[in-house]
Amino acid sequence: MADEAATLALGARLATVLRPGMAVWLSGDLGAGKTTLTRGLLRALGHGGRVKSPTYTLVEIYPFSSFNLYHFDLYRFADPVEWEEAGFREYFNPESICLVEWPERAGALLPRPDLEVRLDIEGDGRVARLRAGTEEGRRCVENFLQSVSG
Ligand SMILES: Nc1ncnc2c1ncn2[C@@H]1O[C@H](COP(=O)(O)OP(=O)(O)OP(=O)(O)O)[C@@H](O)[C@H]1O
Ligand SMILES: [Mg+2]
Repeated sequence: MADEAATLALGARLATVLRPGMAVWLSGDLGAGKTTLTRGLLRALGHGGRVKSPTYTLVEIYPFSSFNLYHFDLYRFADPVEWEEAGFREYFNPESICLVEWPERAGALLPRPDLEVRLDIEGDGRVARLRAGTEEGRRCVENFLQSVSG
């Protein structure tokens, strides 16, 4: 992906294959494009407002008509008690889509992802890799690849 527009476009394309109930890990270094991809995805779903990085709030909530989208950034996550007290566990449910930046910071607190999107910086651009973690996720990747080739 040569530039920011390409990362936004990848997010938009992912928006067409994700379904409520899915959990997606966004992995990659600082500045790899995880929030940018989320922005493209949310815009494609019809969100017209800002997409802030949830660096300090840990999560931003985007309500849509038939599901909620939760955008986590766990970079500063430190306390498992906070996870329980904030009720984050309940955010992972059949009526929500969860996108999680820095999932490794929450370790075993997180359920297994349906899909992992790995972003890596290469030169001035980015490389994206998709990996399915569940059968749902596998179908998602299949649909994604079909949407690219067709
Ligand atoms: N494909 C791309 N090529 C070049 N620059 C990009 C690309 N995608 C995104 N960027 C740029 O990378 C910068 C960092 O992006 P972003 O904030 O999305 O990263 P992040 O992975 O969310 O980082 P963090 O871990 O700090 O939250 C932004 O300035 C964005 O415009
Ligand atoms: Mg980010």
